[in-house]
Amino acid sequence: MNIGIDRLSFYTSHYYVDLKELAQARSVDADKYYVGIGQEKMAIPSPDEDVVTLAASAAYPLMQAGDLADVELLLFATESGIDQSKAAGVYVHGLLEMAPRCRCVELKQACYSATAGIQLAIGFVARNPTKKALVIASDIARYELGTPGEATQGCGSVAILISADPRIMTIDPECGYYTEDVMDFWRPNYRSEALVDGKYSTMVYIHALVESWKQYAELTGRTLADFDRFCYHIPFTKMAEKAHQKLCRKTKVELDNQAMQALLDESLRYSRITGNCYSGSMYVGLTSLLDLAEEDLAGKRIGLYSYGSGCVGEFFSGVIQPGYRAALFAEQHRNLLENRTELTYQQYENIFNYGVPTDGGDYVFPQYKTGAFRFSGISQHKREYESLVE
Ligand code: CAA
Repeated sequence: MNIGIDRLSFYTSHYYVDLKELAQARSVDADKYYVGIGQEKMAIPSPDEDVVTLAASAAYPLMQAGDLADVELLLFATESGIDQSKAAGVYVHGLLEMAPRCRCVELKQACYSATAGIQLAIGFVARNPTKKALVIASDIARYELGTPGEATQGCGSVAILISADPRIMTIDPECGYYTEDVMDFWRPNYRSEALVDGKYSTMVYIHALVESWKQYAELTGRTLADFDRFCYHIPFTKMAEKAHQKLCRKTKVELDNQAMQALLDESLRYSRITGNCYSGSMYVGLTSLLDLAEEDLAGKRIGLYSYGSGCVGEFFSGVIQPGYRAALFAEQHRNLLENRTELTYQQYENIFNYGVPTDGGDYVFPQYKTGAFRFSGISQHKREYESLVE
């Protein structure tokens, strides 16, 4: 049975900071961001957005299309969870008015957990071929102001519908995966900003890639030449390019800049203007590739590398299905990204410092432009959400 991605919908905040603005505030040459790390803009969530509203807005087009009717498993992947107990997906389940006959849990392993979710979802569909699973990756990437990680912030969510005979991409059964207990990036429960050993994290990312690829290649007998495109986890776009260069060197494949652009460029474009969104980043890359590639990718095999610090890496692959374009939300993504509002540095800093109240009082949050849902306030330690859908 072929199982894979039937629908893929991306959502990010309406607000962004241009990294030229950040560079000026930090007295850094803007090319360090634009060229050195390959990032131009970072999406900033307004005070009335959180991982729940980002996720519900990402999945809303599936609800509108009637695609959620047979979903009996909702897996919510996040690094930036909002509650130590209740799964953020349960709020999303309510906002999207999904059927009560549904399993719902939250998954965590830094930026990797959506990939674990997809593999679990494939197992679920294999046992229940007429049912579907919804995996939502939703995150807000936050580092302390003025730290090297600051320019690699961002936010976003990707809703991924897994089914039998999928319209977009079948997922191959073979995978290479790798776990090692390291401290390259982490966020203790008492912190709202991640801690990171930046340079070390880039080395661990690549080490886990090489190890995952080795297993995948042994299992499949495939070489890099068997892939038409690659999608990498994208903390910043230069990281994906460096990772691919390294994999080519390790496997003794010649790669000039033009060849690398042909294999990676379309997958990096959304991330370049939205930033890191941790668990969703590789799937933003896949969405970007499918939405923007002029060439018909039907029948083409895509190599996918998912990485979560701490660390777990996985290399897997999929084959794009005939007629996949009709199942995409490319037009909505284009509208979303073309109609955002730029923040000044001061507006960004004010939003960054706007913390969710923790004293158990009643608060109503200012209304910003959001997607179909907003985080409207908090009362007695309970989050309140508002649907803006008629
Ligand atoms: N023009 C052009 N290029 C310039 C430049 C200029 N004016 N100034 C600097 N550069 C280049 C540098 O030469 C460097 O290039 P190389 O990497 O090719 O040497 C690049 O810009 C970055 O400069 P620095 O190395 O000086 O940057 P930094 O140390 O201040 O920060 C970083 C880089 C460590 C990646 C930092 O952004 C960071 O900590 N980010 C968060 C961690 C992260 O994203 N890690 C990725 C792997 S872990 C992961 O993937 C999980 C996850 O999502 C977090």
